Amino acid sequence: MKVLVIGGGAREHALCRSLSLDPDVSALYCAPGNAGIAEVAELRPVDALDGEAVAALATELGADLVVVGPEAPLVAGVADAVRAVGIPVFGPSAEAAQLEGSKAFAKDVMAAAGVPTARSYVCTTPEEVDAALDAFGAPYVVKDDGLAAGKGVVVTEDRHAARAHALACDRVVIEEYLDGPEVSLFAITDGVTVVPLQPAQDFKRALDGDQGPNTGGMGAYSPLPWADPKLVDEVMELVLQPTVDELRRRGTPFSGLLYAGLAITGRGTRVIEFNARFGDPETQVVLARLRTPLASVLLNAASGTLADEPPLVWREDAAVTVVIASHNYPGTPRTGDPIEGLAEVAAEDAPDAYVLHAGTRSEGDAVVSAGGRVLSVTATGFDLAQAREKAYKAVARIRLDGSQHRTDIAAKAAGLG
Ligand code: AMP
Ligand code: GLY
Repeated sequence: MKVLVIGGGAREHALCRSLSLDPDVSALYCAPGNAGIAEVAELRPVDALDGEAVAALATELGADLVVVGPEAPLVAGVADAVRAVGIPVFGPSAEAAQLEGSKAFAKDVMAAAGVPTARSYVCTTPEEVDAALDAFGAPYVVKDDGLAAGKGVVVTEDRHAARAHALACDRVVIEEYLDGPEVSLFAITDGVTVVPLQPAQDFKRALDGDQGPNTGGMGAYSPLPWADPKLVDEVMELVLQPTVDELRRRGTPFSGLLYAGLAITGRGTRVIEFNARFGDPETQVVLARLRTPLASVLLNAASGTLADEPPLVWREDAAVTVVIASHNYPGTPRTGDPIEGLAEVAAEDAPDAYVLHAGTRSEGDAVVSAGGRVLSVTATGFDLAQAREKAYKAVARIRLDGSQHRTDIAAKAAGLG
């Protein structure tokens, strides 16, 4: 099978790594990719937001499957353009991707499907904003309606800050604060059949102890030893299957990866958000634990034949990933700094620990930073404590001027704090 992956972050590196290990995959391409993905896939330049260009590339390569990684191309209709030239594509249509592209749309689908989520108001005027802030009280949760790379959400005790964020957006969702640990649960679906993956936990805040601004995600781990063993079944029944059924009922079936961001509150599990694609960095740890070869699962989802797929097989191991980010992330990051120590990790820590690239590019023989999140250092071990130790040992070998990473990824879950 010839596979083309669209995107160029650590999620796409994790996808390409798994696909490159799959004996069914005879050729693997990634567009546009990054310096690390170049080691496992052939890179092609493309404007990932240009559906016609992606469809033309897939046709030229004779791709049997296109996997769209990030949300922006999905919302822009890239999956539709590829499907229109008759090539199976893993990723929802633009209409179904509105589940991620519009928080207001997601709330509407959840209400129709009876999916538990925070109570909310959609606001477009200062009067509506004030009324909603007063209705819920602090802590305030204010979400830009559109895509914002994980940075459009402000959670704050400060009413002025909440109001200022709300007024800076055209349309906002203001909602009830949900207390409790967060879980990311992914499901692969063809629009009818839904297959859940293993749950993971992400660390959204920039700094240790969940301090600092929200980011795209600074680290992740799986499994979740503290979670109720019935969690996956419960979320399947209350959230994932009803959402997929509702989108099909509306005539906009969702195929691809449905990501449920959940809060485990004292009053039960609630959806914080949906995403229409694999999470980053959670994918790095979920795929590290998946034993089943990935390509046929994705192709079956893309082809409407997911019911034929045998049950997924998981490793007993634990996985941890630690994101190394540029100076000033999640603000405007500094880029172009050389990254050193990659060869040392490959020589000393592989195969248990390895570096997945996010914002990197090659400059001659050097690899330099090219984005906010730069690397996602991933490791497996027999438990979280061991996976974490291996991940941080590899992180310590990496040198990137001004870089930052959290030191507490998976610490609490591993029983260390
Ligand atoms: P989202 O982009 O909707 O996932 O929001 C980003 C992050 O903001 C989430 O991972 C949570 O940590 C936090 N957040 C979002 N909505 C809520 C909420 N209703 N209550 C508490 N925290 C929230
Ligand atoms: N890690 C959060 C996300 O992928 O949206």
